[in-house]
Amino acid sequence: LPKPFSLDHLATVVRKALEVQQLREENAQLREELGRRYRIENVIGTGPKMQEVLAAVMRVAPTRTTVLLCGESGVGKDLIARVIHHHSPRAAQPFVKINCTTIPENLMESELFGYEKGAFTGASVSKPGKFELADRGTVFLDEIGDVPPAVQVKLLRVLQDREFERLGSNRTRQIDVRVIAATNADLRRALEEGNFREDLYYRLNVFPITIPPLRERREDIPLLAERFLHKFAAETGSRVEEISPEAMRKLVEYHWPGNVRELENVIERSLLYADGRVLLPEHIRLDYAPRRAVNGTAGAVDGFLPEGMTLDEYEQHLIREALRRAGGNKSQAARLLGLTRNALRYRLSQMGLE
Ligand SMILES: Nc1ncnc2c1ncn2[C@@H]1O[C@H](COP(=O)(O)OP(=O)(O)OP(=O)(O)O)[C@@H](O)[C@H]1O
Ligand SMILES: [Mg+2]
Repeated sequence: LPKPFSLDHLATVVRKALEVQQLREENAQLREELGRRYRIENVIGTGPKMQEVLAAVMRVAPTRTTVLLCGESGVGKDLIARVIHHHSPRAAQPFVKINCTTIPENLMESELFGYEKGAFTGASVSKPGKFELADRGTVFLDEIGDVPPAVQVKLLRVLQDREFERLGSNRTRQIDVRVIAATNADLRRALEEGNFREDLYYRLNVFPITIPPLRERREDIPLLAERFLHKFAAETGSRVEEISPEAMRKLVEYHWPGNVRELENVIERSLLYADGRVLLPEHIRLDYAPRRAVNGTAGAVDGFLPEGMTLDEYEQHLIREALRRAGGNKSQAARLLGLTRNALRYRLSQMGLE
C-alpha cells in the first residue's frame, strides 16, 4: 500500500482482500464437494461384475497408466473417468474432457493441440489446446472411435512420447498427462474396418475396463433408483419419499437400453406424475414395453428378419431408419445404432451413400 493513503482507499483494499479470501474459501469448498461426489463409495455397484470394475478402478487410479473405458451409452463411463482422476495423485490438477463426437473434424487438431497466431486465417491470437490445459492432470477422450485418422496420428505421438506442437509452430512441447479414453461402440470393429489405427488402439488398450450394461446388473437398479429419487425430490421440492414394491419391480424388469442415464431420466420424469409420498407403477413412464424377462436369455429377440429380406438389406434398412430419426445427422444416427461416426461412414460408403 503506497503511503500516504486515504481511509477510502484503505477500505477498498481491505474489501478486495476479503472478497478474494471469500472466493478462495468458496473454491476450496466446491473442490471438496466435487471430490466427495467422485469418491469411489458413491459409485453404486454391488454385484460381482461391478465389484470387479471398482477394484480395477482403484488399482489403476494411483498410476499414470492409460485407461480405456468400454461400455454402452449411459453406463457411467464419464463418472468412472472422474473417479479415477479424483483418486489419483493428479486430483488437484485439471481434468479436461474432450468429446470427440461434438468437435467438428476440421477443428479437432487445433482444439486438442492449440495454435499460434497466424496459423490459419482467423487465428488472431495464440491459443493453447486441451492437452496443454491438462498438463499435470488428466485428459478424458470421450468417444475415441470418432477421432478422424489425421488426428489419430497426433494422438499416437502424445501417447508415445508425451510431446506435440501447436498448429503453426515448430516448437515441440513436452507435457505430463494421464489419458483416459472411452468408447461406446465396438472399437475393435472400427479397427477391422480400417477406420482406426492399430498402433493407436494398442497404445490405448493398456488397461481396459468394461462397464457392464444395467440389464446385466439389475441388483443395482433399486439403489440407483433411490439415489436418483432423493436427488430429484430435493431439487424439485417433491413430496415423494419412496418407491412402492410394484413400481420397483417394474424398474427392475425393464431392459434399460439407455442404461443408468435412462434410469435417471425416467425417475426425474416419474416424479412429475407422482402426487403422494409413494411412487407407484402408473407414475413410471418407460420408453418401450419390457422386451426381456429378468431371467430371459441375453440377446434373445422376439422377431426374426422380415419375410424375404437378407441381413444386408435389413442392416441397410436400419441405417436409413436411424438417419431418418436423426434428421440426417450422422453422429446422432451413429449413436442410435451403437456405431462410431467412422463405422457408420464406412457402411454408408458401402451402400453408395457417402
Ligand atoms: N454406478 C453408478 N452409481 C451412481 N451413479 C451412476 C452410476 N453410473 C452412472 N451414474 C450416473 O448416471 C448418469 C450417466 O452416467 P455417465 O454420464 O457417466 O455415463 P456415460 O457412460 O458417460 O454415458 P454416455 O455414453 O451417454 O456419455 C450420470 O448422472 C452418472 O452420475
Ligand atoms: Mg459420457
